[in-house]
Amino acid sequence: MSTAVDPFASPHQVDPALQKFLHLAADQLTQWLGSAATATPFPLVRPQPEVAPSLEGADMESLLDDLQTVMDGAYQPSHPGSLAHLDPPPLTATIAADLICAGLNNNLLAEELSPGLSSLEQQLCVWFCSRLGLPEESGGVLASGGTLSNLMGLVVARSASGSDHGVILCSRDAHVSLQKAAIVMGLPADALQQLPVDGNGALCAAALADAIQSLQARGIPCHAVVATAGTTVRGAVDPLLDIADLCAQHDIWLHVDAAIGGVFALSSATASLMRGLNRADSITLNPQKLLGITKTSSLFLVRDKARLRMAFATGLPYMESPTGDHHGGEVGLQGTRPAEVLKLWLGLRQLGEQGITAVLQGALERRRLLMNHLSSDRLHLLSGDLHLLVFRPRWGDAEQTKQWSETTRSRLLREGFLLSRPQYEGHHWLKAVLGNPHTTNEHLQQLADLIQTDLPR
Ligand SMILES: Cc1ncc(COP(=O)(O)O)c(C=O)c1O
Repeated sequence: MSTAVDPFASPHQVDPALQKFLHLAADQLTQWLGSAATATPFPLVRPQPEVAPSLEGADMESLLDDLQTVMDGAYQPSHPGSLAHLDPPPLTATIAADLICAGLNNNLLAEELSPGLSSLEQQLCVWFCSRLGLPEESGGVLASGGTLSNLMGLVVARSASGSDHGVILCSRDAHVSLQKAAIVMGLPADALQQLPVDGNGALCAAALADAIQSLQARGIPCHAVVATAGTTVRGAVDPLLDIADLCAQHDIWLHVDAAIGGVFALSSATASLMRGLNRADSITLNPQKLLGITKTSSLFLVRDKARLRMAFATGLPYMESPTGDHHGGEVGLQGTRPAEVLKLWLGLRQLGEQGITAVLQGALERRRLLMNHLSSDRLHLLSGDLHLLVFRPRWGDAEQTKQWSETTRSRLLREGFLLSRPQYEGHHWLKAVLGNPHTTNEHLQQLADLIQTDLPR
């Protein structure tokens, strides 16, 4: 029999084993974060930990060793060269909040499993709605990622349309989660129609008007138009005002996938980038993508919160009725889910209005700086209005740009820069997401030099 200490913390006293475990784990984590700049963004060697539980259960020391093994092989978002994806370093308050969230182990399914936190989530959604300029009857729910928020958007739109069969219109550059949503909803393969984008990567409003008219002429209902406020590859923002006008004119649900761009509406300094977002019927917004809220953190917001219950409420006969507005499990797709609101709320409180603005403006400024350091004569540069930038050499066919992107990406990684390599318009590109607050102008200059070393002048 093992002499291991009780794996559950004592409810009678401050548990010394838990206290020690948390202190040592926190030391380990702060070491990992504090040495990020001297590590690599993407470890190529990843030691494998033992996977199966041992017979008697491991003690704290070996569990901490196991954790270290996993940490040694983990992606390091806090490295100043981590610029590949929409996965920024975490804010310190959100790390602490995630820990507390685990310790509280409350459940947002129902008010009786998360009394204070259910109310906090509802209030924070109200704050987001009002900051985005949605009307008083608006509301929302948190979701474990933008894929789920987009799925909810399409389910609510279909439920509001009152018809089972219909089409969803979006741009060619909209996120793949819409395709997944269409599959999950059992829609036929041609139900999601992808329309052309203009030279800036934004949905062509004229093409949208034509598509709506063509559907109407054929008597086919349109469940929703999905506008993207920040496309995944180049950060383009669809013309929200024009699209909202078209949707209003034809009485079509407007869902805005603002997973990337929506946070820019939180600060008056950057809100003009999201003009028209307040006209949406529903919105996906992911604070995990730029603000440093630990994953996952996504909001699904609706202009009329009654629509959530209409789409998702089943009744929860094994729960007491809520004293507040609703049970969390009655207004969204998820049942049991953690109190992700805690880290979102605490992270925003830690940043404050000025900190939020600084994060948003900092990302835009880094995009501007990198663009300036790169030669538009030698590189084809694409960017929308946000903090994403993609580029490839001006010369070369698809095979040559593929090879260039592979070789350059490997060279950058050896020098401590991690960029991603999306396929777009028949070519491989390199993509930089400039949401990392640790990346300085010196880093960006060095990055640009490395990118351009083997490009013909
Ligand atoms: C525009 C856009 N929408 C939705 C998503 C999906 O979000 P998630 O990965 O949180 O599910 C992404 C992910 O990158 C995205 O770029």
